[in-house]
Amino acid sequence: MSPATPHLQFEAVTKTYPGVNALQNVSFGVSRGSVHALMGENGAGKSTLLKTLSGFHPPTSGQLRLGGQTKVFHSTADALAAGVAVIYQELHLIPEMTVAENIYLGHLPARRGLVNRTQLHAQAATQLRRLGEDIDPDTKLAHLPIGQRQMVEIAKALSRGATVIAFDEPTSSLSAREIKKLFAVIRDLRDQGCVILYVSHRMEEIFQLCDACTVLRDGQHVRTYATLTDVTTTQLVQDMVGRDIADVFGYTARPHGAPALEVSSVQGPGVSAPATLTVAQGEILGLFGLIGAGRTELLKLLFGAVPLTEGTVKVHGQPVSLRSPRDAIGAGLVYCTEDRKKEGIVPILSVQENCNLSARSAHTRFGGLINDTWELANARHQVDSLNVKTPSLHQLIKQLSGGNQQKIILGRWLSTKIRVLLLDEPTRGIDIGAKSEIYQIIFRLAREGAGIVVVSSDLPEVLGLADRVAVMREGAISAIFNRAVATPEQVLAAALPLEKISAA
Ligand SMILES: Nc1ncnc2c1ncn2[C@@H]1O[C@H](COP(=O)(O)OP(=O)(O)OP(=O)(O)O)[C@@H](O)[C@H]1O
Ligand SMILES: [Mg+2]
Repeated sequence: MSPATPHLQFEAVTKTYPGVNALQNVSFGVSRGSVHALMGENGAGKSTLLKTLSGFHPPTSGQLRLGGQTKVFHSTADALAAGVAVIYQELHLIPEMTVAENIYLGHLPARRGLVNRTQLHAQAATQLRRLGEDIDPDTKLAHLPIGQRQMVEIAKALSRGATVIAFDEPTSSLSAREIKKLFAVIRDLRDQGCVILYVSHRMEEIFQLCDACTVLRDGQHVRTYATLTDVTTTQLVQDMVGRDIADVFGYTARPHGAPALEVSSVQGPGVSAPATLTVAQGEILGLFGLIGAGRTELLKLLFGAVPLTEGTVKVHGQPVSLRSPRDAIGAGLVYCTEDRKKEGIVPILSVQENCNLSARSAHTRFGGLINDTWELANARHQVDSLNVKTPSLHQLIKQLSGGNQQKIILGRWLSTKIRVLLLDEPTRGIDIGAKSEIYQIIFRLAREGAGIVVVSSDLPEVLGLADRVAVMREGAISAIFNRAVATPEQVLAAALPLEKISAA
């Protein structure tokens, strides 16, 4: 192998699932000592490519080469033994076991057939220190926040001597501080000569962290950039979607009507100070804040998912008694969750059934008979208008790519009668082309008279979408800005913890 040959090579990798060509003839190389981004729209084949690498789903045809040698991995254990690890977004750790046990699962240090606890503890502590983490190895994994769990997953890879490490959207549930930490670890691994593949939809992360980049579109290799120095966002977006997206938001002002939602002095778990706000019909209110500021908690109170301890909620001027989400939906108040795995999709049902779940009861015939015509037409309409990539309406939703699952959740709520729409991180994990489509849908609903609250951790998104921006900090609403006067600096300042501001 000449020194210029990339350490990891994908050669004509093809992967077909029933009815789907997820990857077709993908070839490119990834060098040591570089962080290589993998980009593409939802369903482009990024996660599938990583699965061929990890042995989770071996390629249908084509091959991988590692250090010039052809490799076929038939299981993740196979891949790990060859030094290849993939860190998925839904981490594959066991919450009931300790940190140390998770790191060494499958190769626990043993003496005379018994696990050597002292050695296990010491080895795990060393691995974690390498990552700058001082987590007690005997802590139960379930007690760690998501960012530290990810570090445990990385420690596990390193304990097996992994030199090829791939990350699939690792930052989507991390706080800004956790992201900084993760990036430091990734840079460190790069400098030690590891091969790093990095999947993310966040353009700014790609430019901050990555040295090279490969773009996939519809399962095909579009282009590999050996360096990103002269590459622009516009160019990458064009490679990904095959067209220009001039203005992602396309904001236009709309007339605002009577109040759609009136929230007075609401309090409950996670919302420690009385929250008061009004959203007019046709208005979009952005709700910004750092992770843990109480935004999701506030939405859950407004949706009746968690009982209010104080305060009142009105929809179209009528008080709503919120004992359960059913009351909220009955009043036309709809909540689109950020956590699609836990609260959003029903994995074992089809795309069509997931689409129709929420609106179905309004369309059943006399005696509770399912209205097949409506079911088919509604699912077709949502899938088409949201541009969901699926081979058929009967596909199990769990077999769709992450971003396409997110679109179906949205479609499910768009099928119902909406007066107030509460959207929690509606574009997390969604590619830039689809984002722009979702923004257009939000604007359309607003033009049709819905009052909309959008929670987002993405500041440009909040400022690009909203007519007004409310900011939460430590369980309280700390400020509300009109669009015309909201600057990024002001909004951030209202979101930062108070002690940080006084220290600065
Ligand atoms: N287990 C599976 N069975 C059938 N089809 C699948 C399966 N997993 C993925 N697919 C399909 O393969 C294609 C590529 O999916 P993949 O998950 O690789 O996309 P992705 O680029 O990671 O997208 P995202 O950005 O949304 O995560 C999609 O059309 C998806 O529906
Ligand atoms: Mg994916």
